[in-house]
Amino acid sequence: MSKPVEVWKASAPSNIALIKYMGKSQSENNRPANASLSYTLDHLLTEVEISRREDLDQDVWAPLDLPDFYELRLSAEGEKKFIDFFRFLKATFSVDGFYEIRSANNFPSDCGIASSASSFAALTLAAYQLALDVSAQKETVESLGLEDLSKISRKGSGSACRSLFRPWALWESEGARSLELPYGHLHHLVVLASDQVKSVSSREAHQRIPSSLLFNGRIERAELRLKSLLSSLNSQDWKSSFEFCWSEFWDMHALFETSSPAFGYMNSESLKVLSKIRSSWQSEGDGPLVTMDAGPNVHLLYRMDQKSLAVKHWNEFALEGIKILASPSLDRDS
Ligand code: DP6
Repeated sequence: MSKPVEVWKASAPSNIALIKYMGKSQSENNRPANASLSYTLDHLLTEVEISRREDLDQDVWAPLDLPDFYELRLSAEGEKKFIDFFRFLKATFSVDGFYEIRSANNFPSDCGIASSASSFAALTLAAYQLALDVSAQKETVESLGLEDLSKISRKGSGSACRSLFRPWALWESEGARSLELPYGHLHHLVVLASDQVKSVSSREAHQRIPSSLLFNGRIERAELRLKSLLSSLNSQDWKSSFEFCWSEFWDMHALFETSSPAFGYMNSESLKVLSKIRSSWQSEGDGPLVTMDAGPNVHLLYRMDQKSLAVKHWNEFALEGIKILASPSLDRDS
């Protein structure tokens, strides 16, 4: 009888930053220029499975076939980055041998939602499971806590280090940690303004923005805004929180547009949605927190008591043919 294949599994969620990690103080290890704050998107998951393969002479990646998950396609560059990071994990955890890594997301991979945070966090956790069984340094591996694993995952992709914590994650120079704030559960809508692969990756964006004249003072602005946002969230001042998030993502997108060479992600659909949300805030005095990453999609976060407003916006966007991905806490028929 053939030996059963050993498989080590883990999953990790994505996260959306309200104060952005944009700019690095050390690019090799993805050390951030400023602290960032994110909300963990528990419903947007990457699942990773690692299996030992005696027949291989190198590590390989393949898409994972799971019910309710989407077929994942990685570019040659994306696949290399993932495998290279797995090699780094094997060296860090003292693991020998060659493995097949398989992964899948439960959200469409071609819709422009950054999946690097969830992918690199899930790969770190799956490699850790593997190491607990096969590492040559088991005691060292067993002594690692979540904050250590977060620091390790940061080396794959900076934003991954926040995905190990929930509901909020604060990433300061020493590392990321969980943060409890009054809004522990939020409804989430992401407006899919484009399904095109972006021409400038966030890795490239980090490198280009120091060329912008607006980069002067950026670190101080981000740190000040972080303090202000934490204080407004803690005092449940939702409107001020919206204003800080709004100015933060515009600050980042202004850096993109004033870099040399300039680049940008917003399209007419993104602007239409932003203008609609601003009008909603102006007419109703209330609305969602809004943010955008290095892409054209618009993320909207609603308080639990704003469910009907979230569903109303969802229906209005759908009527205009705009694609939406919603958290399972929202139901269009409600
Ligand atoms: C705009 O974590 O993707 O989403 O560390 O180079 O892999 P690397 O960059 P990445 O950058 C994310 C940038 C952002 C803002 C954020 O998530 O804070």
